[in-house]
Amino acid sequence: MKATAIAPSNIAFIKYWGKKDEKLRLPENGSISMNLSNLKTVTTVEFSRILKEDAVIIDGKSEKKEMERVVKHLDRIRKIANLSDKVKVISQNNFPSETGLSSSASGFAALSLAASKAAGLNLSKKELSILARQGSGSACRSIPDGFVEWLNGDTNESSYAYSLHPASYWHILDVVVIISQDKKDTSSTEGQKLIMSSPFFKVRLSNIKRKISLCKKYLKEKKFSELGELIEAEALELHAIMLTSSPSLIYWLPGTVQVMRLVKKLRSEGLSVYFTVNTGQDIHIIVEGRSRENLLEKLKRIKNVKKVIVNEPSEGVRLINRHLF
Ligand code: DP6
Repeated sequence: MKATAIAPSNIAFIKYWGKKDEKLRLPENGSISMNLSNLKTVTTVEFSRILKEDAVIIDGKSEKKEMERVVKHLDRIRKIANLSDKVKVISQNNFPSETGLSSSASGFAALSLAASKAAGLNLSKKELSILARQGSGSACRSIPDGFVEWLNGDTNESSYAYSLHPASYWHILDVVVIISQDKKDTSSTEGQKLIMSSPFFKVRLSNIKRKISLCKKYLKEKKFSELGELIEAEALELHAIMLTSSPSLIYWLPGTVQVMRLVKKLRSEGLSVYFTVNTGQDIHIIVEGRSRENLLEKLKRIKNVKKVIVNEPSEGVRLINRHLF
């Protein structure tokens, strides 16, 4: 059977950084995110007895490293479905991958739903989130709708994401600013292995539960500026860990810092804007409806800004009828 799924990427307000179990991808801490309406992956999967080997094409290419990671995930699904058929996978992102926009989140979320359906399984959202997490941690948050919490469980079954609020709950925007399409030199998976070398990682863990409950409270009460302050401080804390790891991880480019400074300046002029950054040079600006036009106008004037993608909160992964082959 053939199945196709579409999944959004997501932006973490409280970040996942570090695993307490590498194999199962159990995180050191819980995290909170929002799904993004205009960063999407579409994936079609078909299992077939006729195929001689697995074929995986992502954005028109078959790269060995990506292929191995995808096949490992397909093996998890074959095991659950008790299936030995080979598989064909075609996947398309509508945004640059490996520049810090979390293509592994949307990618493994779409793959989990499309492949499990194509294998004849009917997994619940919780089961899908547990499955997606094993492909890429942040992917478990692209399964449920809207604003999402990933629970920091100690076992495979207790570490999954669920929806805190639907996408329609709050019309805040995430403006993604693309600084460069160059791929980052250290992946999130590799970067995370360095956590314990930063003297500040333990400090981060000691405060993280409080941060998560504050983030949930501000979301619940729709307190935009409090939420924004928290998100921005969280991103800078994450990068403080990265910068003080050994070897150090420096993901920012001059354009990243320029946009950070612009956001702070606009805030001093009264705009409701806050930034967050993941592993990469691209930067996300969280903005409330009214400040949007002014922000976009200012971004146009920065030479280092290559492209801007405006995102609303989005629903999670879903099946579609338009197959890619
Ligand atoms: C900084 O989910 O890409 O974006 O589980 O190894 O695939 P793996 O890592 P990944 O890490 C995301 C890190 C982050 C923060 C976040 O999205 O929570």
